[in-house]
Amino acid sequence: MPIFLFFFLNIALVTSSHLEPGFYLNTCPEAESIVRDVMKKALNQEPRSLASVMRFQFHDCFVNGCDASMLLDDTPNMLGEKLALSNINSLRSYEVIDDVKEALEKVCPGVVSCADIIIMASRDAVALTGGPDWEVRLGRLDSLIASQEDSNDIMPSPRSNATSLINLFHKYNLSVKDLVALSGSHSLGQGRCFSIMFRLYNQSGTGLPDPEINQIYREQLNKVCPHEVDQNVTVDLDATPLIFDNQYFKDLVAGRGFLNSDQTLYTFPETRELVRLYSRDQDEFFNAFVEGMLKMGDLQSDQPGEVRRNCRVSNACPANNLLFGFE
Ligand code: HEM
Ligand SMILES: *[C@@H]1O[C@H](CO)[C@@H](O)[C@H](O)[C@H]1NC(C)=O
Ligand SMILES: *[C@@H]1O[C@H](CO)[C@@H](O)[C@H](O)[C@H]1NC(C)=O
Ligand SMILES: *[C@@H]1O[C@H](CO)[C@@H](O)[C@H](O)[C@H]1NC(C)=O
Ligand SMILES: *[C@@H]1O[C@H](CO)[C@@H](O)[C@H](O)[C@H]1NC(C)=O
Repeated sequence: MPIFLFFFLNIALVTSSHLEPGFYLNTCPEAESIVRDVMKKALNQEPRSLASVMRFQFHDCFVNGCDASMLLDDTPNMLGEKLALSNINSLRSYEVIDDVKEALEKVCPGVVSCADIIIMASRDAVALTGGPDWEVRLGRLDSLIASQEDSNDIMPSPRSNATSLINLFHKYNLSVKDLVALSGSHSLGQGRCFSIMFRLYNQSGTGLPDPEINQIYREQLNKVCPHEVDQNVTVDLDATPLIFDNQYFKDLVAGRGFLNSDQTLYTFPETRELVRLYSRDQDEFFNAFVEGMLKMGDLQSDQPGEVRRNCRVSNACPANNLLFGFE
């Protein structure tokens, strides 16, 4: 027990860290190019996986800061975030992060945190699919624990409307502009029928579809997601799901938003003008998106941290540390 305590205190010194560009310049100069290379491979192997990895930044940073808590597997003593409401049967491509970590551990073991990997990989996903490229601030630590309950309490439902999303983002000091721009991440990737069944067949308990859905688009969705469908069937989030562009906003203006939370950004007056602006001006969208990603990436945990050796397991976990002689 004393050995355990000593070890635990030793690794858990820092609570909040100073983030800066080029944080690994001396300790792991190749870090950023290694991450980008693995992301390029992922793009070739399964193009959608870039969208799936980019989504991690949102689901990580909103739940107790950007600390890679969402990557921890459940243990007998801890219910992690992987099975939380917004993540179960939905978050995917965890193995891409494993591949990045493995490549980094080969070159500079124990140096680059999983939390920073999420930030770099998300940026690379956008840059490699036609979106903007930008410099990220690094130096985060990985959490020792995860919280399924916190994820359940925090992460927004696809049923959310713009007003409730504005309020949620406000809690993180993220503006209406940040909300609309960051929602433009749905320029990439897919969602499940599960996330829109209520919209198609029983919006707000009316027994009717959401009237804001474009008629032709709704007929298409009805075909892919009929009443009796396997609700894991997936549908593109915009008309160009492999390209990071402002098509998402054009689709919203045309009533072709996939999620209720997407379409409401156009139907609610608080966010409509920004959607219009980004639908017309891709550069404005890209600039606002980068700003939003940087702000979201600065959300910090106030809990102790470490640099995990395996992104799925905290270092103190016995399974990962037999050599330290405690259990
Ligand atoms: C504004 C509130 C948001 C809500 C309510 C929301 C909700 C969702 C939902 C319901 C899905 C589909 C999940 C499924 O059906 O399995 C999804 C997918 C996705 N989300 Fe969000 N999201 C939001 C913001 C964000 C942000 C800020 C990002 C990243 C910066 C993001 C990135 C993504 C990506 C890339 C996908 C597609 C993933 C894939 O293809 O695997 N989302 N989101
Ligand atoms: C938006 O959603 C919130 C939370 O579900 C709800 O209380 C509110 O009535 C909704 N606003 C509108 C205008 O529909
Ligand atoms: C938001 O900003 C306020 C004032 O600067 C700060 O006290 C608070 O911690 C910030 N909240 C978050 C979640 O970063
Ligand atoms: C629609 O939802 C309401 C309440 O959410 C429910 O009472 C009703 O049975 C549903 N209608 C249909 C047709 O599923
Ligand atoms: C989706 O697939 C998973 C895993 O196969 C299954 O457990 C789940 O019930 C399915 N979800 C829906 C909404 O059909």
